[in-house]
Amino acid sequence: MAIERTLSIIKPDGLEKGIIGKVLSRFETKALKPVAMRMQWLSQREAEGFYAVHKARPFFKDLVAFMTSGPVVVMVLEGENAVAKNREVMGATDPAKAAPDTLRKDFATNVEKNTVHGSDSTENAKIEIAYFFRDTEIQTYAWKR
Ligand code: CMP
Repeated sequence: MAIERTLSIIKPDGLEKGIIGKVLSRFETKALKPVAMRMQWLSQREAEGFYAVHKARPFFKDLVAFMTSGPVVVMVLEGENAVAKNREVMGATDPAKAAPDTLRKDFATNVEKNTVHGSDSTENAKIEIAYFFRDTEIQTYAWKR
């Protein structure tokens, strides 16, 4: 299996719920290694740009309003099969449909306040990582766990 990178965002509801540490712990437990990380309060323009593919969707305006309602934690996760693995750890977009022991099942409120974002493909992961991080902000370090 290939080592991949994926973009993860802990959304404003995750910060409000005080679970940054719990989310990071799940990633680390599942061998998703944080290699870049920043807390950031997205501007409307940044949120609109990030979610541009959803521009025509009825929930776009509310999504942007929510994502700019408070700070987020953006990070790059690295590991074997990281894109799919992160999606497994997150669970379905709608927490009502999320499998047991997933982040969204355990912590999300609803489809909007769903605690975490993760890239949905390796192609989008590259685009999303570049949206938030320069190459020089992504670190390499050994894991002795
Ligand atoms: P995310 O993985 O960040 O990508 C797009 C987001 O749109 C999604 O998670 C949801 O939080 C949000 N969203 C809000 N309403 C809906 C909806 N009805 N269907 C799908 N996504 C929605």
